[in-house]
Amino acid sequence: MLMVFVVNAQIKLPQVWKFHTGDDPQWSEPGFNDSQWEHIKIGSPWENEGHPGYDGFAWYRVKVVIPSSLKNSSALSRSLKIALGEIDDGDQTYLNGKIIGQNAEMGGTIEQGDYNAERVYVLPIDDPAIHWDQENTIAVRVFDHGGNGGMWAGSYNINTTGISDFVTIDDHTDNFHFRERTHLSKKIMLKSSADQYTFSGKLTISVINPDNHQAIWEKTIPASFTGSKPFDYTYAFTLSGGQSYEAKYVFTDSHSKESVTATEGVPYILTPTASPKPQINGATVTGVRPGHPFLFRVPATGKRPMEFSAQHLPEGLHIDRETGIISGEINTAGSYEVRLTVKNALGADSRDLTIKVGDMIGLTPAMGWNSWNVWGLSVNEKKVEAAADAMIKNGLADHGWTYINIDDGWERPERAANGEIVPNNKFPDMKALAGYIHNDGLKMGIYSSPGPKTCGGFTGSYQHEAQDAQTYAKWGIDYLKYDWCSYGEIAPQNPNLYWLQKPYKLMDSALQIVDRDIYFSLCQYGMGDVWKWGAEVGGNSWRTTGDIRDNWESMSGIGFNQGKCAPYAGPGHWNDPDMLVVGKVGWGPSLHHTHLTPDEQYTHISLWCLLSAPLLIGCDMTHMDDFTRSLLTNDEVLAVDQDPLGKEATQIAETDSVRIYEKDLADGSKAVGLFNVSTQPASIHLDFSPLGLNGEQKLRDLWRQKNIGTFTGSYVAKNIPSHGVLLLKITAMK
Ligand code: GLA
Repeated sequence: MLMVFVVNAQIKLPQVWKFHTGDDPQWSEPGFNDSQWEHIKIGSPWENEGHPGYDGFAWYRVKVVIPSSLKNSSALSRSLKIALGEIDDGDQTYLNGKIIGQNAEMGGTIEQGDYNAERVYVLPIDDPAIHWDQENTIAVRVFDHGGNGGMWAGSYNINTTGISDFVTIDDHTDNFHFRERTHLSKKIMLKSSADQYTFSGKLTISVINPDNHQAIWEKTIPASFTGSKPFDYTYAFTLSGGQSYEAKYVFTDSHSKESVTATEGVPYILTPTASPKPQINGATVTGVRPGHPFLFRVPATGKRPMEFSAQHLPEGLHIDRETGIISGEINTAGSYEVRLTVKNALGADSRDLTIKVGDMIGLTPAMGWNSWNVWGLSVNEKKVEAAADAMIKNGLADHGWTYINIDDGWERPERAANGEIVPNNKFPDMKALAGYIHNDGLKMGIYSSPGPKTCGGFTGSYQHEAQDAQTYAKWGIDYLKYDWCSYGEIAPQNPNLYWLQKPYKLMDSALQIVDRDIYFSLCQYGMGDVWKWGAEVGGNSWRTTGDIRDNWESMSGIGFNQGKCAPYAGPGHWNDPDMLVVGKVGWGPSLHHTHLTPDEQYTHISLWCLLSAPLLIGCDMTHMDDFTRSLLTNDEVLAVDQDPLGKEATQIAETDSVRIYEKDLADGSKAVGLFNVSTQPASIHLDFSPLGLNGEQKLRDLWRQKNIGTFTGSYVAKNIPSHGVLLLKITAMK
């Protein structure tokens, strides 16, 4: 018999569903009359759809015909899949009254579901709950606490299984390995989740030039694999470098004739290799409060051993000549100009550092590492120590990366008898850990929430704020990320400004009286336009959005929508569009290489630097590939972020395919980002007059650290890759 398979047939679910707040088991039933319920758009938090601040239970319902033709869409159609996107926080989903799935990962109840997990519920194709060719009722029971809620993001469809449900082309376990920047290799794997099948066919790997869609390298090889025996292949090729290419993998199964395809960008390194001669990098200004511990590791590249020295160090400070770590304390307020010098066998470099002793800290955006985007709640002491070690060993500390921050997951459920917060057994000794980190001249951060519980369900600071601040200071903490989670249970629904500010004011006053500087990072996702008052409640930075993920929609959706916050950033108080998603990320114990393409990663770092954003690396520091390292160690790019003027870039042009950002720099020049947000390579025309630039201008490509030339009136940047960027510094000729 000849079977015709309609590959990729799928039913799209409607964008508008029925909705009701509250909770009643009857609402799962197909016969329940929901005609009085309101209509609501899915793919958007219910806060944005007429229910601001709502926390608790609510139900979504929709009716949909499931055509039996879906059963013939693949030789492997054994199951029906219902995709319901991401649901904040937990859900239970019913098809015609029968429960077909739930997400309640963390605590076993839907109150603690994982708001970031894609819900795809699977039923056997012969499950009687499916009413083929008739109307079916899907009912989703949702619980939300704190922040946004509901069916907030993702794709919504019904499909049957096909080869892509069983076969994965794993191109994210390994990363590309570079030899000499032009020789690349990478291992890819074909995996099957179905033990019952042996897949056998061929794998074609192509490297494609996106400008003309031509393959510049291609290879086809036989491949066969089972659930227990994956197939792997390491391919190697040579490129001329410096240009964006796409790698495409197609596996075709010879039995079903079905294919699975995956594509990814090929990384290309633009950052020049650091010279063996000494060079001082990083911020040119730093702040400390009088009488508080000062710690600053002079970031410098160059062949070790190097000798560090500092002229005009204010009284109370001392520099370690071997490590370049400046420590001590300064009792008298004022601005101190220090001349730093670094020498090695090949030469010397000198630069000024301004130490401002006064009320303000965080004079440039914080740069460091945070455990969340990589380890999630699986963070532990070993992982934090390893991150600190890697910061030194990878050389990132030589470019100004300083903070090592523990996010959620370190707190024990019960406080000590005297009310003191106690770390759980993953963190045996916080004070010793801080000492370990300080010993390298790095700084240590920690995390808490103003509610009784943190977002991950750990112990929060509620009613222990002053005591917690003292404990942090006692341990030697330099940075506090303070979330909002579960404070929603303390504050009234739809909290007004008073309630939004209250927990932050409280913690700020506690932090102000401890005997060390603790950078205060607010994390309440932008509620109540926090950028307008974050500085007033003591914030050195404040999150302006929900959580970032490692995909283009999330990163670009956040990064290109910061305009409303831009005027409020400045030295000591920064907008925080969330942490970086480059390198190996995972939000838990198992990691994958970021799903952003290399060009998207150039966009990510360029944009965050233009936005004067805190730069917090969220990847496994101990397995950092050459490309990621190159992204995080370009001193001319990082200097845009750390510029002492502290202005945030603004968007000066926007079309469907282009965004242009401009940031004023302290030396009178401008950093300009030309972003191609379209799916094709593009040329971008930059007109100088909207930038107020008259006369001849010198243009420098910051990623390549190369002068492009001098131009008057305008400049056309050719061939900016899809989702890529050209980051310029423009300086008027004298
Ligand atoms: C919130 C924050 C994240 C992270 C988690 C920890 O979701 O936005 O950055 O701190 O909490 O649970």
